[in-house]
Amino acid sequence: MSLGLIGRNVGESVTLKMNETFAILKAKGEPVIHLGGGEPKSKAPIDAITAVASQLNTGEVRYAPADGSVDMKKAVIRYTQDNYGRKVSPKNIIVSSGAKQALMVALQAILDPQDEVLFPAPYWVSYPDMVKLCGAIPVPVVPEDGTFTPTMEDITQNVSSYTKAIIINSPNNPSGAVYPAEFIKEIVEYTEKKGIYLIMDDIYQKLVYNGVKAANPYDYVKDFSDNSKLIVINGVSKAYAMTGFRIGWAIGNTKVIKAMANIQGHQTSGPSILLQKAAIGAINGVQSSVESLRVTLENNRRVLVNHLKAFDGVHLIEPQGTFYSFADFSAFEKDSTKLSKLLLDKVRVLTVPGVEFGMEGHLRISFCGSIKDITEGMERIKWAIDPNSPNELYIGDRKLIRDWK
Ligand SMILES: Cc1ncc(COP(=O)(O)O)c(C=O)c1O
Repeated sequence: MSLGLIGRNVGESVTLKMNETFAILKAKGEPVIHLGGGEPKSKAPIDAITAVASQLNTGEVRYAPADGSVDMKKAVIRYTQDNYGRKVSPKNIIVSSGAKQALMVALQAILDPQDEVLFPAPYWVSYPDMVKLCGAIPVPVVPEDGTFTPTMEDITQNVSSYTKAIIINSPNNPSGAVYPAEFIKEIVEYTEKKGIYLIMDDIYQKLVYNGVKAANPYDYVKDFSDNSKLIVINGVSKAYAMTGFRIGWAIGNTKVIKAMANIQGHQTSGPSILLQKAAIGAINGVQSSVESLRVTLENNRRVLVNHLKAFDGVHLIEPQGTFYSFADFSAFEKDSTKLSKLLLDKVRVLTVPGVEFGMEGHLRISFCGSIKDITEGMERIKWAIDPNSPNELYIGDRKLIRDWK
């Protein structure tokens, strides 16, 4: 079978593959714990459910406009006003099937082959492949000081005449880092001055802990004209626990948004009208579910961080947002794929290898599951890799013997 350039070069989404592996093992009755997940366990807000149910009851489920329904755009205008203090117009908005599609069509709209796109490491697994899907070149930027927070120097050292865009994801998947407001200010000013696109992937904006806040890029924008190169991405997946609804959006200048709508119109058409109704319900409805999810996650975070900090040999920079931790396990095993595989094979705990996010030696361990799963999962991990562990461990009535190093 002969594949084309894109078919040959684009890899599978590792995180989606993990979900598949989990489902297969679970169906076989294996006592598997998923600490690699990327979605909250809570239910979608009731306002989302009633909104979608009443639309369904009309029996009218037709095509939506390619760039999103009028009502959904109104909801996005409201969201942007409430969360960013910024009034945008419907022409600045495109609604897509998830933040993932919004990002993809944004890149397709702005990139030429051979253009370069910068993003700090560790980075979301999809960025490199999305850039490659456009024939462009991903340029990960590893912070020089060994933290998860880039400096402007890290960024500018990697900018070349081919740099077309910079993607910033704060709160960051997988590190949980929330970049300082000073950095966001500088990067907004720098990209404005240089005429480079700045894509802010703000999908975890509301999931922040211990009083930390994600900086608002609009606070630092000087150019609100149609030449603005700022594109802000958001969606309902994470904060509203609506991953399966697949609704996200982008806000940008009218020319970029129009180009994105043209592309989306040929790719998938507008997102399902039913799912847009659900998103409208969530955004316009009672917001208490967001805060209650945030509080639950804050508590889960505390439990996971305590386990990781008590783990001799593991180095952790505490996450300030998202629902991921990204700890350094290289004192035990430098090859994160090997370590993640050992944990799955031997103690049935799913984690995501750091190498997939551009940082070897780390594991992404999520805290979006239950406290029970976090606690038991961490106990199993510790038993599997700590050389001082006792020789035996029981998982239910299954006795495990530690016969590996
Ligand atoms: C950083 C980041 N951006 C975008 C997305 C995509 O979100 P959506 O479910 O809205 O497509 C994810 C999902 O995991 C993510 O982690």
